[in-house]
Amino acid sequence: MFVVVGVTGGIAAYKTVHLVRALVTNGHEVHVVPTENALRFVGTATWEAVSRNPVTTSVHDGVAEVRHVALGTSADLVIIAPATANTLAKMAAGIADDLLGVTLLATTAPVVVAPAMHTAMWQHAATQANMATLAARGVHIVGPADGALTGGDSGPGRMVEPDEIVAAALRIVGASTEASTGRADLTGLTVAVSTGGTREPIDPVRYLGNRSSGRQGVAIALAAADRGADVVLVAAHVNDGVLESAAGHPRVTIERVSTAAELQTAMTDASPTADVVVMVAAVADYRVASVSPAKLRKEDGVPRLDLVENPDVLAGLVAARRPGQTIVGFAAETVEGAGAGDTEAIDAELLERGRRKAARKGADLLVVNRVDGGHGFERPENRVLVLDATGALVSEASGTKRSVADAVWDAVAARRSTA
Ligand code: CTP
Repeated sequence: MFVVVGVTGGIAAYKTVHLVRALVTNGHEVHVVPTENALRFVGTATWEAVSRNPVTTSVHDGVAEVRHVALGTSADLVIIAPATANTLAKMAAGIADDLLGVTLLATTAPVVVAPAMHTAMWQHAATQANMATLAARGVHIVGPADGALTGGDSGPGRMVEPDEIVAAALRIVGASTEASTGRADLTGLTVAVSTGGTREPIDPVRYLGNRSSGRQGVAIALAAADRGADVVLVAAHVNDGVLESAAGHPRVTIERVSTAAELQTAMTDASPTADVVVMVAAVADYRVASVSPAKLRKEDGVPRLDLVENPDVLAGLVAARRPGQTIVGFAAETVEGAGAGDTEAIDAELLERGRRKAARKGADLLVVNRVDGGHGFERPENRVLVLDATGALVSEASGTKRSVADAVWDAVAARRSTA
């Protein structure tokens, strides 16, 4: 999603760094538009570094590409955090004397504001009248929260925490996408999704783990919830910020786990009431046979780790599958030896490996993705092939993890409608 984050001149601007980071981590394209006053609190270099995009306050930069209009028209979502009393007044009046003001007039995307100011300013009749104008115009208002303020006193005026703003904004967009596209095709379904990488303890401080970020599974869970499903998301270890977008969704319940055994228990508990089960988690195939109760020390010499095989969670769920239930597996595959541009050879090898795995796993659908050389793990983008239980290719998709997630749900929905 193309997100414009407007930052205005309040001390809470430092917290907006985290908000931008959370959006970027979740695979969104973020453009920060600060006001001149915002830059007194947090500078251009910080915004460029966290958003990975150029930052300007001026309508006179990038004139050739009509940047002042392009930002507003490209946006799928605009978030203003913090929104000062002054900016809210300018918004209410439609004043466009800087890039943020122009962007706000040029956009038709949902606009979310997170006010932050002293309680007296918030309660002033002028501010309240401006808020009423903005609300009547369809602007979404998140906060302010009640609590300690910078001056030492307290009351309503604190900016809502960045994670909550992100969650609220994504919910608003999810709801409006659902309304505008009519995509509520998973309404009434209960879905269980696993994500992240399990960790198998070696001793109290060490573990065997993997590089799964959890992003694809979270995208699968969110896409299902946005399309109307009730989702249980069993999350093993995920990268910082990845779970935040799901945590705020009213139809997603998150259960945290660590080891393969814990993941198996959680998924086995969730599965009997689920219409669709999606195993995205990178489950460790092996665990340490006997976990040391005390930290292994160098003075004891090079340790020998005996490994034993973990249960195949997906295979267990397939064996217990009830009539009408759809089970989806993921297969993370590496492709050795194919040249970077040799898509055909790469796909042929992925298909071959995928077919063998589809036959072995028995899931209704198997989503095959490539995880080496800049693909898959820890990346915002992904490319997948979707096979059915016979190994036939039913669809392929690439793009953001969200668009891949939607393609997977399209394949699930198509399968369920013909089953
Ligand atoms: N999986 C599982 N339990 C395991 C290992 C994997 O449920 N112990 C699931 C994964 O969540 C995924 C699918 O099985 O949906 C395929 O995982 P993958 O690691 O690609 O396959 P493996 O069976 O581990 O095969 P290999 O490591 O040989 O490729």
